Amino acid sequence: MAGRKSEIGMVGLGVMGRNLVLNIADHGYSVSGYDKDLSKVQGLQTEAGSRAIFAAQSLEGFVSVLSTPRVIMMLVPAGPAVDNVIRELMPYLEPGDLIIDAGNSHFKDTDLRAKSLADKGFLYMGVGVSGGEDGARHGPSLMPGGPKEAYERVRPIFEAVAAHVKGVPCVAYLGPGSAGHYVKMVHNGIEYGLMELIAESYDLMKRGLGLSDEQLSVVYGNWNEAELNAYLIEITSHIFRKVDERTGKRLVDLILDEAGQKGTGMWTSQDAMEIQVPTPVIDAAVVARNLSALKSEREAASRTLRVQIPHFEGDQDALLAHLKGAIYASMIIAYSQGMAQLRIASKVHGYNTNMEDVARIWCGGCIIRAAVLEKIEAAFQANPDLPNLLADSRLGDAVMAKQEDLRAVVGLAARLGLPAPCLMASLAYLDGYRSAWLPASLIQAQRDDFGAHTYEREDAKGVFHTHWE
Ligand code: 6PG
Repeated sequence: MAGRKSEIGMVGLGVMGRNLVLNIADHGYSVSGYDKDLSKVQGLQTEAGSRAIFAAQSLEGFVSVLSTPRVIMMLVPAGPAVDNVIRELMPYLEPGDLIIDAGNSHFKDTDLRAKSLADKGFLYMGVGVSGGEDGARHGPSLMPGGPKEAYERVRPIFEAVAAHVKGVPCVAYLGPGSAGHYVKMVHNGIEYGLMELIAESYDLMKRGLGLSDEQLSVVYGNWNEAELNAYLIEITSHIFRKVDERTGKRLVDLILDEAGQKGTGMWTSQDAMEIQVPTPVIDAAVVARNLSALKSEREAASRTLRVQIPHFEGDQDALLAHLKGAIYASMIIAYSQGMAQLRIASKVHGYNTNMEDVARIWCGGCIIRAAVLEKIEAAFQANPDLPNLLADSRLGDAVMAKQEDLRAVVGLAARLGLPAPCLMASLAYLDGYRSAWLPASLIQAQRDDFGAHTYEREDAKGVFHTHWE
């Protein structure tokens, strides 16, 4: 290894960075790693074994072993840490070097950084990495964006380390600027939606039907066997089986019911609002996490706004079948909203992202991987400019085949007094999207009445205003 230059460097040796370094090295590349925290540098050194890994104790040493032009990836928390790394690296770099931010940065920050670095002659990429610790180590889904020439430089490494589905790597060039980080952001928005949908099904089965953790594990395990096959369903089945070592109880029952978040779901909703794409399932999932955080208020309200959850008297097996169908339909609707957002964002932000590629690279490695993504990929293959997955006959039919399940489950949730915001948002979106007429005509009339905002007519061209009184 002595004298061998590193093809790529990694700044940030936390869980993701360290595992990605090991993954890259396993594919025959020489990698350097650096972290301010020396214990992490030493940890990497120990784990490196005979791999071509150089764990550097200083930034200068780290940069000195990189082949030129340099390729430096960073996996540090989004926000100021990214700017700090760039600033600290600058004195050691030369024009033509490539810096890659592989964290969950906000896409607007990525655009600003890319612009400022391009002005100095550097290349900058924003790359989404999904799959958690295991993905980073054994094959993540990679969502790269930035200058095409920069992508070509790292393409062999990315294709080697990414997850592979049917022999094809889960990575594709997604477009210039912040395209990669935008796609990752929407991936996370969909992730929020799917997680909340699964959580709502849990609530209906736990508080509605009184199922035990063991039974829940079996239900999710069964769901994962067929069309609902998805990574998040699979881990949910495992979670209900996990026993707490301290108490001997199921661990999930001991976890505080306040969901955390680092912001990517919220950013997805924010930009969807900005570019006026309806994404109510993602929005509702963000709101549900925010509501969960109001623990003490919820506890107080549970004493004053009491509603007894009635005992479910119906056919349990029939309800479980409805629930399975409802979750399948809602999952497709969550993907529909995210994909619709990406398609419009691609035009608004100039990414020119290939939607079929997005579906394909999400088929493996990432958190939202699911069997249905193959159908989504096929839908974009058939029509690259598909405005909405519900407009694809196969996916539209799949959702409509389950619409009665969704109605039954939403109705039950309302009757039992159990919150099911994402299931309800899915149904309302479906019913809104398939409505040739909506009561927005009345909203136009109201706007014109109180504010002379004008309206258009169904029966004549032009813009109209009426004195309504
Ligand atoms: C992934 C995940 C990951 C994300 C976590 C936590 O694709 O591997 O999306 O990037 O950081 O899921 O996100 P929240 O803290 O916002 O839930």
